[in-house]
Amino acid sequence: MKDYEIKRTREKGLGVFAARDFREREHIFHEDLTKLEKHTVAEIDAHHEWDGDHSDYVGHGKYAISQTPASYMNHSCDPNCYVKMRTIAKKDIYAMRDIRKGEELTVDYTATSVDQFAGKGFWVMECNCGSENCRCKVDGDFFKLPESLQKKYYPNLPPSIKKKYRDRFRRLFKGRKRSNL
Ligand SMILES: C[S@@+](CC[C@H](N)C(=O)[O-])C[C@H]1O[C@@H](n2cnc3c(N)ncnc32)[C@H](O)[C@@H]1O
Ligand SMILES: [Zn+2]
Repeated sequence: MKDYEIKRTREKGLGVFAARDFREREHIFHEDLTKLEKHTVAEIDAHHEWDGDHSDYVGHGKYAISQTPASYMNHSCDPNCYVKMRTIAKKDIYAMRDIRKGEELTVDYTATSVDQFAGKGFWVMECNCGSENCRCKVDGDFFKLPESLQKKYYPNLPPSIKKKYRDRFRRLFKGRKRSNL
């Protein structure tokens, strides 16, 4: 039996739906983008036939276009899944809470948006997630998340990013306890 189903949503194109119940913290997908071809944003923009919506940052200013099940997951400002980044290009997706069969599987895109465009620019997406705490305009910049969410998602960032922005994270956590997702 399949764990998931890819189906059309009302507002967000295709999406991934649970084909069975998942328990909180259960592993759902592993995504390894390291073997895919890497492209710059300019190359992706020049190839209109490529699916730019499925481009994922893999580091060093490059993006890979992936058609993995995880690449069909939509964003929600109140997601039921989270992404543990082993490295920028290797990720595992887990259930953030118990999920019932038929629910759409969603993640917070901003939680994994580190060093996009090699740190020289950021995307913005008009959000149709419909959640009560919808941020409406979703930024592709981890550091634009409210501090409470930066703290919540910090444990899932890859070691390279924790190290690179060590001073920034030290300031974020100054005198306060880290959350463990
Ligand atoms: C990685 S793809 C996700 C799968 C996509 N829905 C599809 O049909 O292939 C990312 C794109 O999905 C859409 N999307 C994802 N989450 C959304 C949201 N909360 N609100 C509006 N559009 C969303 C946007 O067009 C975004 O660029
Ligand atoms: Zn939203």
